[in-house]
Amino acid sequence: MEKVGILVVSYGAREAAMVDAFARSPNHKVELYIADKQRNPFNVKRATKHVVIPDLNIEQICKFAEANKDKLDFVMVGPEKPIIEGVRDLVEQRTGIPVICPLRDYAIEASKVQQRLLLQEIAPEANPRFKIFNPQEYDGIAAVKKDVYEWLDELENQAVVKPDKPAAGKGVGVWEDHFTTREQLFEHFISNFQHGAVIIEEKVDGEESSFQAFCDGKHLVPLPDTRDYKRAFDGDKGPNTGGMGAYKDADDKLPFLTAAERECELALAKKIFEKWASKISDGIALRGVPLYLAFMHTGKGITVLENNSRPGDPEIINILPLLKDDFVDLCFRMLEGNLTRVELEKAAAVLTYKVPPTYGGYADAFPNLVDKAAVDTPVDLSRAYALAEKYGDRIKVYPGSMEVRDGETYALKSRAVGVLGLGETIEEARQISLEGTRAISGGGLWNRTDIASKQHIAQSISHMEHLRRKL
Ligand code: AMP
Ligand code: GLY
Repeated sequence: MEKVGILVVSYGAREAAMVDAFARSPNHKVELYIADKQRNPFNVKRATKHVVIPDLNIEQICKFAEANKDKLDFVMVGPEKPIIEGVRDLVEQRTGIPVICPLRDYAIEASKVQQRLLLQEIAPEANPRFKIFNPQEYDGIAAVKKDVYEWLDELENQAVVKPDKPAAGKGVGVWEDHFTTREQLFEHFISNFQHGAVIIEEKVDGEESSFQAFCDGKHLVPLPDTRDYKRAFDGDKGPNTGGMGAYKDADDKLPFLTAAERECELALAKKIFEKWASKISDGIALRGVPLYLAFMHTGKGITVLENNSRPGDPEIINILPLLKDDFVDLCFRMLEGNLTRVELEKAAAVLTYKVPPTYGGYADAFPNLVDKAAVDTPVDLSRAYALAEKYGDRIKVYPGSMEVRDGETYALKSRAVGVLGLGETIEEARQISLEGTRAISGGGLWNRTDIASKQHIAQSISHMEHLRRKL
């Protein structure tokens, strides 16, 4: 079997799922070189070489690539920070090893302002009404406050405040959800405005889907839709997080969307990609997952909430284990510019994240529910792994923000471990995912219990029915 060397730049469970997909390659003997945010127990076990680069600094990632240059066929990058900072430009220039992610100038996730302006040019119908507030254009708080309040008059307060720069899903503030008075909104606005431009845009009513597509620079290969759960707590309460879980149905579309609405998604993504790519002389700039669009379905069309330049965490975890293609071959096709389609098993997939009490404001919101004695104790994943005896390939346990220390596994600050269940139906997949989360003990970890619940999905369905009827 042919040997293939792959460097994976890893942040959390999303990359553990990639490492798993590479390690399970039927066609290649894979050697993994992993530049990791922490000593992830899953990655450490599977790596030929593993280094910890806590800030995922691109100079250090590049040094690791250079040191192993002769062994590496390509580099796969999951997290946004090194992508935005230009890891591909640096590694390709210095080592010649091809990197799977967009070039820095096309990592548009770096700026929500740029995203809105690009969309305004190529698909304005998918933008909400928005206004960009630039600190350079104001010389005092009073002037900006006046403009903000005038804009709020126009929007009738139905507004969303978005800092230009990404804040791991945590910088966005939504009227009624995060503030109920203009003063609160303005406070949130100013705390971000001190650091750079801020957008205030129309709050759009609808149901969200995450649309991802692989791209070899020339072809956009859409993946099935997933639904992410951004809010920290059950019932979509609490602050926004990086995502507490996600589901996909057995086919490509979500249960609350019609086939026509899925077609609209595909058409919009294709239009954005083609117009964007036509403006770029070097087509392969858009390699990887340059379009991971957060869509809001309004019943009358689609609004783009944001675009990311990388696979979703967790949303790609719902998809990777279902690839019929060897993931290594898929990556080679992406590098060669001939990735025209991917095939997936027909299965539903539900991912639930377990996170530490310090995550998502949980310890503050529910102090009595925090198992204080368990915090900072080792986490035992063995019973969750053992569920594979019962469920075979239908359960996957992917540690994220966890590290091995003195032979034990500890949760760190972010999303600690994702448990994926696969099944013929969403409910079957969900039960497996939940059983997996219950089998994990220690660390005081908690999780949302309503990811992909029948009730949550029924609400999305009736919300969409209502929106489609609305005049
Ligand atoms: P973003 O980081 O832009 O995806 O926003 C995070 C979350 O804020 C989204 O998942 C939505 O739930 C919400 N959100 C963002 N933009 C809007 C909008 N224009 N209207 C309503 N909700 C929004
Ligand atoms: N799940 C949200 C994200 O990856 O940005």
